[in-house]
Amino acid sequence: MLTIDWTSQDPATAALQTLAVPISSRESAPAIDKMFGAAIAQASAAARFQGRPGESFRFTRERDGALQTVVLLGIGADALSPGRWRGLSHAAVRAASEVGSDHLVLDLRHAVQLGTGSIPAPQLGNLLTQGLELATYRYDRYIAEARRKPITVKRVSVVGVDAAGNEGVNRGQEVAAAVARARDLVNGPANQVTPSYLAQFAADVVTRLEGTADVKLTVLERDDCEKLGMGSYLAVSLGSDQPPKFIHLQYTPRGENKGRVCLVGKGVTFDSGGLSIKPSDAMMGMKMDMGGAAAVLSALEGAARLGAPWEVHAIVAATENMTGGAAYKLGDVLTASNGKTIEIDNTDAEGRLTLADALVYAGKLQPTYTLDFATLTGACIVALGPHIAGVMTRDDELCAQWLAAGERAGEDAWRLPLPEVLKEQLKSPIADMRNTGERWGGAITAGLFLSEFTEGQRWVHVDIAGPAMVRKPFGVNDEGGSGYAVATILEFLR
Ligand code: BES
Ligand code: MN
Ligand code: ZN
Repeated sequence: MLTIDWTSQDPATAALQTLAVPISSRESAPAIDKMFGAAIAQASAAARFQGRPGESFRFTRERDGALQTVVLLGIGADALSPGRWRGLSHAAVRAASEVGSDHLVLDLRHAVQLGTGSIPAPQLGNLLTQGLELATYRYDRYIAEARRKPITVKRVSVVGVDAAGNEGVNRGQEVAAAVARARDLVNGPANQVTPSYLAQFAADVVTRLEGTADVKLTVLERDDCEKLGMGSYLAVSLGSDQPPKFIHLQYTPRGENKGRVCLVGKGVTFDSGGLSIKPSDAMMGMKMDMGGAAAVLSALEGAARLGAPWEVHAIVAATENMTGGAAYKLGDVLTASNGKTIEIDNTDAEGRLTLADALVYAGKLQPTYTLDFATLTGACIVALGPHIAGVMTRDDELCAQWLAAGERAGEDAWRLPLPEVLKEQLKSPIADMRNTGERWGGAITAGLFLSEFTEGQRWVHVDIAGPAMVRKPFGVNDEGGSGYAVATILEFLR
């Protein structure tokens, strides 16, 4: 963790210090002139630095008898959104680390003049801290020391934000730590991160929190799930030599309790497609198919550490989807734990089958809200691109709450409809439903399928197939697992 201090004046310059200054494109040259003099204003203009987003300009100067690296970071003309504030502090740490600094001074006085919109100071502190801390995240445990690019920054002084920003620092550090734990799980290869590994992770959460918060764990084995009639979930596990683990982690607040929230996460630790096997290119990356599980387990730990005023249940029906001799087959008919029958016409639509029994299990807990997070469909990525999650629900009020939490957290999401007419596609001649629809509207038919298992619940489905795994770095994300949804969940549970 970084040492972060919040000040109103310039800290003294010492060796190995980097000063990062976000510059707006509205009056980039005059602002630089005022802060650093005409020569630097000229030099930066000559290098075509105009304060546009993504631009940067670096120089070194002598101050207080020490050498200081200065990095100007372009932020464009508009007030920054929550997501861009996180990205800004992230970029500053990375820039300082590039020149080997251990102390970053992030001067926001100019940027704050652009306005912080409706973001209150403590939330700005939270967001900035998340960006700072997440910049120190690397998944480099399997590469040689010499190839690692460790972050050199250890201390950050943030200058110019309302002193109340300091109130958000602790929260930001907890959120970032939870996001980092989720990233570790997603980045972990499938030969390590098995269903048993996820169950052990949940057990470690309990151990880590002993004495601090009330968290308990139940893990249902195959036999237990059979007794509960989870024929849908268990079918997916049949082709794998890894035993399925149904994970139920519960946090109970000691003080105020606003209600019970079930967070259901898709935990397919590897999705080969099963007998409807994926082509090799599409199978690559399918270790990430437990991104929902990573998010809910890590967010539960974060909620417990932050003392969230909700009773939180993280529920994961963990399994691999493989092609072993006992694998479930096309045309099989399964019976889920609510008694509904499902005809299989594609074993690669396995996520919804695992979620079906997990959602029924959640319903039995009589939650106030149920939210599920799943890397569920390629179709959702086609619809919304790789940065934005798809949100599906029939509950307008809960949807608005979720989207508002996402906005405050700086994670993008967009609602898709659940039109009844598409349910036609899920009809089977011999069972209550089949597990896939036609090609068009694939994210939606998956959502409609899940809705058959959430009757009577106030429920939101979040398809995170796009943002769970990052190919092109953006904001606070490098290539790899993003920990998407953790920050929004923690915002939702405030
Ligand atoms: N895990 C995949 C969805 C996915 C695809 C996530 C790409 C991330 C990136 C899911 O289990 C799956 O295979 N879905 C199928 C559904 C189809 C068979 C109806 C898909 O999206 O093609
Ligand atoms: Mn699949
Ligand atoms: Zn899958």
